[in-house]
Amino acid sequence: MTTTTPAAAVTKAVGTAHTRVEGVAKVTGAARYAGEVPYPELAHGWMALSTVARGRIRSVQDARVLEMPGVVAVLHHGNAPRVDGNYAGPFGPPDPILQPLQHDRVPYVGWPVALVVAETSEQAREAAEALVVEYDVEPHDVEFHAGHPDAYLPEGPTTEMSKGDLEAELAASAVVVDAEYSTPEEHHSPMEPHAATARWEDGRLEVVDSNQGSRFVADELAHIFSLDPGSVRLLSEHVGGAFGAKGTRPHLVLAAMAATVLHRPVRVVTTRRQMFSLTGYRSPTAQRVRLGADADGRLRALDHQGECLTSTNHEFVERSADYGRSMYDADAHHTVNRVVRLDVPTPTYMRAPGEAPGSFAMESALDELAEKCGLDPIVLRTRNEPDAGPLSGLPFSSRNVLACFEEGARRFGWADRDPRPGVRREGRWLLGTGTAAATFPVLVAPSTAAVTAEADGTFTVRITAADVGTGARTALTLVAADALEVAPERIRVRIADSDFGQAILAGGSMGTRSWSWAIVAAAADLRERLALADGIPPEGITARSNTAEAIGRLTSKERYSFGAQFAEVAVDVTTGEVRVRRMLGMFAAGRIVNPLTARSQFVGGMVWGLSMALHEEAVRDRATGGHVGADFASYHFAANADVPVIEADWVDDPDPDDPVGIKGIGEIGIVGAAAAIANAVWHATGVRHRHLPIRPDRVLMAGRDA
Ligand code: MOS
Repeated sequence: MTTTTPAAAVTKAVGTAHTRVEGVAKVTGAARYAGEVPYPELAHGWMALSTVARGRIRSVQDARVLEMPGVVAVLHHGNAPRVDGNYAGPFGPPDPILQPLQHDRVPYVGWPVALVVAETSEQAREAAEALVVEYDVEPHDVEFHAGHPDAYLPEGPTTEMSKGDLEAELAASAVVVDAEYSTPEEHHSPMEPHAATARWEDGRLEVVDSNQGSRFVADELAHIFSLDPGSVRLLSEHVGGAFGAKGTRPHLVLAAMAATVLHRPVRVVTTRRQMFSLTGYRSPTAQRVRLGADADGRLRALDHQGECLTSTNHEFVERSADYGRSMYDADAHHTVNRVVRLDVPTPTYMRAPGEAPGSFAMESALDELAEKCGLDPIVLRTRNEPDAGPLSGLPFSSRNVLACFEEGARRFGWADRDPRPGVRREGRWLLGTGTAAATFPVLVAPSTAAVTAEADGTFTVRITAADVGTGARTALTLVAADALEVAPERIRVRIADSDFGQAILAGGSMGTRSWSWAIVAAAADLRERLALADGIPPEGITARSNTAEAIGRLTSKERYSFGAQFAEVAVDVTTGEVRVRRMLGMFAAGRIVNPLTARSQFVGGMVWGLSMALHEEAVRDRATGGHVGADFASYHFAANADVPVIEADWVDDPDPDDPVGIKGIGEIGIVGAAAAIANAVWHATGVRHRHLPIRPDRVLMAGRDA
């Protein structure tokens, strides 16, 4: 007989550094990813994607391909089973790419037109690449640019928001900044490509997939195949990166479709190239920012107009103009997000959707304003700290952005900075430093959890969480340990099985906060039951929670995380090369559960900000409508040699309304990072770069024009 009541823990686990609980499994290869799980009788599907940007499929010439070695089937719009797209999930109606092979229309290059299934992956690939598809081609438009004549205001109460008389306040301002910024199409590029293996097992559709929310994806599959939600099981135990790209994607639908038709397990794995059109991306943005201020820097007018693109068959809006709505106040305040439909794939959520490009424009514009006012950029931001939500008037749950600037400035050595641009030289390098603020909303969503006291004295937590590489599984282990007052070694956290029930997906930086809330609630209930229990039966004692009611009771407040980004750069104006020499990010982002993995989250976001500032850019060929080089040879991103010493740390900032004090840390690391680097490039060279990435040719052109 083991103890029924958890013993008081010697130390609190939350706040102490723990290596990943699945770390050994990952480094030894024992952890299986969705493309690796072995099944008897497994068949392999390979997607054939459209090569034209707009038109109709005239024929899919599958006869010759069906004769090729190992080929089992070719699914296309002429023979594929019908699926349902007439539903609305938590994020609205589905992207039509989730209803593949249903008609002959082609909306962009890279649209799935067939699935070739064969005995081996190699046979499927060879056959899919040999498959001839004929098209009736129509003219296309893939060119995004500022002020596109077809840009429109999307429906919804928050696409445009304003207060005050903007033009009057701009006219009355002593100092005005009016500038246009742009960011290019950017891709998530998780290390693990999307993959799914689907089979029918005991009358249920079971899919092992790489995704951000197994229950979410299971529900969507149930809609698509008109199945009872209980008839679909999704497993996603290990995920090698996601960043918003791993919701429900077409490879999974096609795997399930083929498994249904063929009555055997089918795996569909994406290639890196295919991911560029099948798994979403961040829309390019064109942004105009107008700031008007008194001579002392106090904002009278703030205008942020964002423009992005979407596909012709689905609307997704990159809401870059939302960034300033809670961050900065002004007597007149106007923000709007417009979108234009082009013959391109639908963009989607990507790490800090809206805030990442929006903060580049706004935090650059503030740096320009500081320069014009003759003010230190931190002083300018200090003068514009709002007491309450600029548009809502609601109080902030906590707002520690100035604490981030204060501590960041101290560690970075900001006080000694000479504000003049273009005056520091070290050999062929011009040196500069820059800063920017960061903010990201604090969200939470209802989730359920089950916590079981096992007869052997351990505890099992079951929750449909996802660990997309963040360390969430480990963080939840620490949270559960404290909630049960036992050592983390006695906790086993099981995640990413849709049978564990409803839980929010890993997105919006709200996973760990939402799941922890559910675990804490179930653990409290379990402890009450254990106090009354007379021993633990062999099946254990289980308590379940549902946080819908508790979260529904939360009062309305402005809830945000904040940060201050600092960067030092060196610019070689003869080659145009920009090197980031160091970065520092200070964050106020709630209680930090696991400092080890949290630091990785912040640093990872900052590395991406560096990558966004200097490297990343997907280029479309206007003639074909497809990408120029949809691969890692052409799509550049920061590699090890580009990344300097990066320091990330945080100030004490527990959320007052969260049971653990968590706010969420997945996205804020990227916010403001690109602006801090662009501002440092200005400080180094005296030239503003308003268009990302700051490529060598752009630096050279700017130097020539200066
Ligand atoms: Mo994320 S872009 O919230 O998956």
